[in-house]
Amino acid sequence: MRIALQNVWFRYPGSSSFALRSIDLEVEEGEVVAIVGPNGSGKTTLLKVLATLYAPSVGRVLADGTDFWSLSEDERTSLRRRLVYVHEKPTLFRGTVLDNVMLGLRLRRVGDAEKRAMDVLEALGIAKLASRGRRELSAGQAQLVALARAIAVEPEVLLLDEPFAYLDEANRSRVAEVLTELNSERGVAIAIASHVYIENPVEVTKTVKLFDGAVAEVRGVGCG
Ligand SMILES: Nc1ncnc2c1ncn2[C@@H]1O[C@H](COP(=O)(O)OP(=O)(O)O)[C@@H](O)[C@H]1O
Ligand SMILES: [Mg+2]
Repeated sequence: MRIALQNVWFRYPGSSSFALRSIDLEVEEGEVVAIVGPNGSGKTTLLKVLATLYAPSVGRVLADGTDFWSLSEDERTSLRRRLVYVHEKPTLFRGTVLDNVMLGLRLRRVGDAEKRAMDVLEALGIAKLASRGRRELSAGQAQLVALARAIAVEPEVLLLDEPFAYLDEANRSRVAEVLTELNSERGVAIAIASHVYIENPVEVTKTVKLFDGAVAEVRGVGCG
């Protein structure tokens, strides 16, 4: 799936200024887009607009060429199933780690949810946490579980907010490997927001630098 933002502006309700200003950006199959910029530059807001969690105040969000916000509620729901946003500080639900990872699969009525969930936990090196509760996890472990929950539903677009923030070196490399494989073998489009560019261990196809809600620079293939 391809998500394209066209002249997107976004203002939080009650705020006097725009958190996003005149953004044109595409994230499509096979891409890994890094979104970088200082705190408050608009990375999280941008990911949430890409994830269709926020509707732009001005401008359009195209999903495979169709104007997302003009679609019916049903059409939006089915498109939303194909993309996943992972919060920087994810909320896990009551129940075990395994329950959390299986939840999205159950909602999507995927068969063999338990095996699929365990395979993903295994790939991320956290199979041994399967029966733990959410309060028995460190911040880094919770971040890995949230990532597992996102990957398990096999989205076409994966939008990750500061995914490496709480991870140690070994986990960063492991996550980078898993993401690279999803991207190169299944064509999953990935966008990664991070405030410290150097901390992103994933090889990217495009880097978008935000400053004060606007794109300050784009670097990558075909961008010179
Ligand atoms: N819920 C909110 N209500 C009002 N303003 C917000 C809200 N969330 C973020 N902002 C503002 O929007 C701007 C961009 O924030 P954000 O997208 O979170 O930046 P980043 O993720 O790059 O740190 C900041 O000026 C921030 O203060
Ligand atoms: Mg943020």
